[in-house]
This record gives sequence, C-alpha cells and structure tokens, in this order.
Amino acid sequence: MDLSFALLELASNSLDAGATLVKIRLRVGRRACLKVSDNGRGMDDETLKRACEEGFSGKGSSGLGLYKTAKYANQSGGSLKLRSKIGKGTSAILKARQFETGDMASSLAVILDDESDIVFKARIGLKRIKLDTRRLRSETGGISLSDARKKAVIKKYVNENLK
Ligand SMILES: Nc1ncnc2c1ncn2[C@@H]1O[C@H](COP(=O)(O)OP(=O)(O)OP(=O)(O)O)[C@@H](O)[C@H]1O
Ligand SMILES: [Mg+2]
Repeated sequence: MDLSFALLELASNSLDAGATLVKIRLRVGRRACLKVSDNGRGMDDETLKRACEEGFSGKGSSGLGLYKTAKYANQSGGSLKLRSKIGKGTSAILKARQFETGDMASSLAVILDDESDIVFKARIGLKRIKLDTRRLRSETGGISLSDARKKAVIKKYVNENLK
C-alpha cells in the first residue's frame, strides 16, 4: 500500500457513488495529507459508521477498500477521517507519517473517464501540479479522456511535473 493506491481506493468509491466531480488534494513533505472529496450520493450515518469495517460494502463489492486504507493510514502513524452527507457528497482525509508516494500518475490515469471530472492539486516537496479535466475538456473541445492514448499523455504530463 502507498498513497497512490489509497488515492485509487478513495476516488474509486467516489466514482461508484455517482460523483460527477472528484477533487483530490495531495501534500507531501515529511508528512503526507491526501484529501479526496466528491459530490456523489453520500452516506447515511449507519453506512458512514460501518464504512471502514472489514468486508462491509453497501454496493455488493468486497468491502475491503476503506478497511485497507484506514489500516494503512493508522500503521503509517496517521489517520483516515471520513465525512459525508447524504445527497451532498463525501470527503476523506488521509494523514500519514511514514509513507511511500507511489505512482500517482498511474492512479490518476485509471480514474479518468468521461462521466466525471477530476481536479487534482498536488504539492510534493517544492513541485506543484494542477490538473483540471473540466478545463482540459473545454480547451480541447471535449475530447474523451477514457481513451488509452490520451490517458498516457496525461500520465506523462503528471509524471514530468512531479519528478
Ligand atoms: N465516497 C463515497 N460515497 C458514498 N459511499 C461511500 C463512499 N466511500 C465509501 N462508501 C460506502 O462505504 C462502503 C465501503 O467502502 P469500501 O471501499 O471499504 O468497500 P467497497 O467499495 O464496497 O468494496 P471494495 O473497495 O473492496 O471494492 C461502500 O460500499 C459504500 O457503501
Ligand atoms: Mg471501495
């Protein structure tokens, strides 16, 4: 597990919850903070309480994503906190002290699709990067981002800017 994998778990949940916008903010220094917020369907109190339980799924999946992510956060000296409002959306904040950043560009490429927009803002050491698919789409006349070649271009862009 690393931060890029945690990003994948959190953002996948956002997309599964029908989010049309997923905002991702990452700060990496001696400590790391990853925030993923969405405008998906949100969770009721009962679901929110159980969300990190091993094997709990509200959608017939394996129910391991948040369990593993929370465990990782705790083991790395940090925490995973979830907030959610039914009908409004969900936000997850992961904090870590001992961590690997992992391959952020690949995780982003995986979650890019045409049903939702992604805003990714990262600060890794002195490097900063911002990717906003709403801008990308409007500037390119609405290209499809689910295309493998376009994902590869975005991946390269993110990698080059974060290295
Ligand atoms: N962003 C979110 N918006 C709405 N509901 C969420 C969100 N994140 C998690 N949940 C709820 O919490 C449950 C548990 O999430 P978790 O990621 O642990 O398991 P899963 O997504 O169901 O399965 P897996 O991640 O193993 O494929 C989800 O099934 C869903 O009901
Ligand atoms: Mg999940």
